[in-house]
Amino acid sequence: MNGDQLTSDLHVKTIDESKQGDVFFQDALVQKTDGKKFYIESYGCQMNFSDSEIVASILMDVGYAPTRDLAQSDLILLNTCSIREKAEETVRKRLRTFDKIKEEKPGTIIGVLGCMAERLKKKLLDQEKLVDLVVGPDAYRDLPNLVSSAEGGDKGVNVLLSREETYADISPIRLESNGVTAFISIMRGCDNMCSFCVVPFTRGRERSRDPLTIVAEAQELFDKGYREVTLLGQNVDSYKWTHPQSEELTNFAQLLQLVADVNPLLRIRFSTSHPKDITDEVLYTMRDNKNICNYIHLPVQSGNSRILKLMNRTYDREWYKERVESIYRIIPDCAISSDIITGFCTETEEEHQDSLSIIEFAQYTMSYMFFYSERPGTLAERKYEDDIPETVKKRRLTEVIRLQTQISHRKNQADIGQTFEVLIEGTSKRSEDDFKGRNSQNKMIIFPKQEGLKPGDYVHVKIAEATSATLKGSIVE
Ligand code: SAH
Ligand code: SF4
Ligand code: F3S
Repeated sequence: MNGDQLTSDLHVKTIDESKQGDVFFQDALVQKTDGKKFYIESYGCQMNFSDSEIVASILMDVGYAPTRDLAQSDLILLNTCSIREKAEETVRKRLRTFDKIKEEKPGTIIGVLGCMAERLKKKLLDQEKLVDLVVGPDAYRDLPNLVSSAEGGDKGVNVLLSREETYADISPIRLESNGVTAFISIMRGCDNMCSFCVVPFTRGRERSRDPLTIVAEAQELFDKGYREVTLLGQNVDSYKWTHPQSEELTNFAQLLQLVADVNPLLRIRFSTSHPKDITDEVLYTMRDNKNICNYIHLPVQSGNSRILKLMNRTYDREWYKERVESIYRIIPDCAISSDIITGFCTETEEEHQDSLSIIEFAQYTMSYMFFYSERPGTLAERKYEDDIPETVKKRRLTEVIRLQTQISHRKNQADIGQTFEVLIEGTSKRSEDDFKGRNSQNKMIIFPKQEGLKPGDYVHVKIAEATSATLKGSIVE
């Protein structure tokens, strides 16, 4: 493995790679424009992609229109990720490709948003000469001010973190949309202190968003033809909203129920669940609502209790296994996926074997797999030595990936002959004659198009072929 992760379309994707959203993008462009254009590229997790849609909304309100053409843009924004060293390197490389644009059009403003902006703050201006703006995840409302000072030649920095900001009142512009599936942020920040993780430092304290605004956003999406929403947060199971007047509490299970009630034709997904917080109440709510998808992303990180303790995950191997057993007991056809880190500080070969055996135990349909990358300022960086040689980390990662690929393949093979309800998301990348869509378990399914069907429709597809990544089949009545 050369990279530090198994690449996936969820974790590393830039907005300009998507062709799907062109129609919607153009619509947005036509609605509001007084000449100035912005270009935005997003890196990292779904939260960042979701934030870029908030940024787009804020900029469009002050007359900026989105463009996919760098050469045409007056403002270039990178919404960045700090999770691993490689994520930051990718952004730095990308930034440096803008020197030509600056040469040809010196007035172009270049801004860094998101987690790298928050982590590096003003330092980023000294390190990367092309950068004019550095704006952290809680400061996007200030972007119009910062952009206008930058137009006057001043460099701008706002990296203030907030305890309240949820952007609840801002209606996101669905930049990259296929018109069928959308993200809804339900909370921001993270109060856990996993020792390897930079997120609590870049995203600040955890805060939940008013459930009524979440339900309203889901309803609005449904009315526009969307048929699936993914509720986003670093740890959705700790979602908690206390109504300011009645002091009534809404927890995550109750929020799920509220969103599921919007319409039986609206599918609900959510990410990420934390093994220490996911409750049986959530599992029962999933079981009792057909439109809440049977899929849980439940990152284990390591299968060994000593390593989990060093990681400060606050659960152990036994606890995790019990959660997995409860999921399969309450929702027998639920799919589970995971995140795994190899070569964390002091991890022995036996402890690495525990990660392999938990992958086998949990029977994940897929995993995001990484080797440990020490991040400045984290607990692990301050307390433990990053003592596993990179060659060992990478060899362990290869073993994890090999096992996960085998399990994914085996599980997909077992789907052959079965029929699933699939929500059509669009045309397959590989063939104009095929649709792509997902089943409840979040597996991508490819099948021949049929007259009269369109993205957003539900169909039943019988599976005929499977690889470790995709299922293929055909529509049945
Ligand atoms: N909130 C989510 C994780 C968000 S970060 C959760 O708690 O599960 C996404 C994933 O990146 C993590 O689950 C972890 O597997 C990985 N990751 C985070 N920090 C890392 C680091 N320093 N090195 C390698 N992988 C890391
Ligand atoms: Fe990072 Fe842990 Fe928070 Fe996830 S729960 S964002 S891994 S600190
Ligand atoms: Fe990366 Fe920040 Fe998300 S560090 S993973 S973009 S919260």
